[in-house]
Amino acid sequence: MGDPVGDAQSGGERCRHLAIIMDGNGRWAKARRLPRIAGHREGVEAVRRVVEAAPGLGLDVLTLYAFSSENWKRPPDEVNDLMGLLKHYVQSEINALHKNGVRLDFIGDWQALRPDLVDLLQRARTRTAGNRGLKLVMALNYGGQGELVRAAQALARAVAAGELTPEAITAEALEARLDTAGYPPPDAVLRTSGELRLSNFLLWQAAYAEYIVTDTLWPDFDGAALAQALAEFSRRERRFGGR
Ligand code: FPP
Repeated sequence: MGDPVGDAQSGGERCRHLAIIMDGNGRWAKARRLPRIAGHREGVEAVRRVVEAAPGLGLDVLTLYAFSSENWKRPPDEVNDLMGLLKHYVQSEINALHKNGVRLDFIGDWQALRPDLVDLLQRARTRTAGNRGLKLVMALNYGGQGELVRAAQALARAVAAGELTPEAITAEALEARLDTAGYPPPDAVLRTSGELRLSNFLLWQAAYAEYIVTDTLWPDFDGAALAQALAEFSRRERRFGGR
């Protein structure tokens, strides 16, 4: 019998937290002369496959960039479609996620989404809060710069209230005010579809992450592609600024 974790992540250090920029839905649809929504719909299927495969491949935390704070610039119909898919994903998957011990959480300004979505997301988060399996973190209405600005505002408020001195503003104090407080930083950031951009994703947290780029378009991504990316991670030598 094969050992999937060992096979995928043999030798080197284990990737415990993988963050993914899911890119290429539009191109997947265009190549098939389908509307963009068809690409996003298949993208949700890829999310399902990856969430299912992640624990068996040794991941503890999986962060998915589902909607960026810049994605509001897309045509209103596409934004509506994405919100609809998010709602459908959570509604249709929550029982299975809960049964499998997945803890669902969100980063970004997700509380500014449509009230029906906020309510659904809040309930999913509360319901799965005690689970001990995979931590599935969805970045929704997320941007790294906005997150850092909100953390800076929280620090400034604490100083103004006399709870913190300026000297007590350390990296740890800032990290504690990021949306990702309590999660380890990502060991790797994976981007699909061959694009070589950060796109405002986890700017602080990815300081020492390994970047992995695959040409696969997100709707074609699956457990095997995930295993391949993790195998690439395990071949990297991480130095964290040392040598
Ligand atoms: C990039 O593809 C992807 C997005 C903007 C959003 C990612 C969304 C999904 C995978 C579906 C929704 C997910 C959930 C969990 C509900 P693109 O449209 O930028 O592709 P392109 O660069 O080829 O045009």
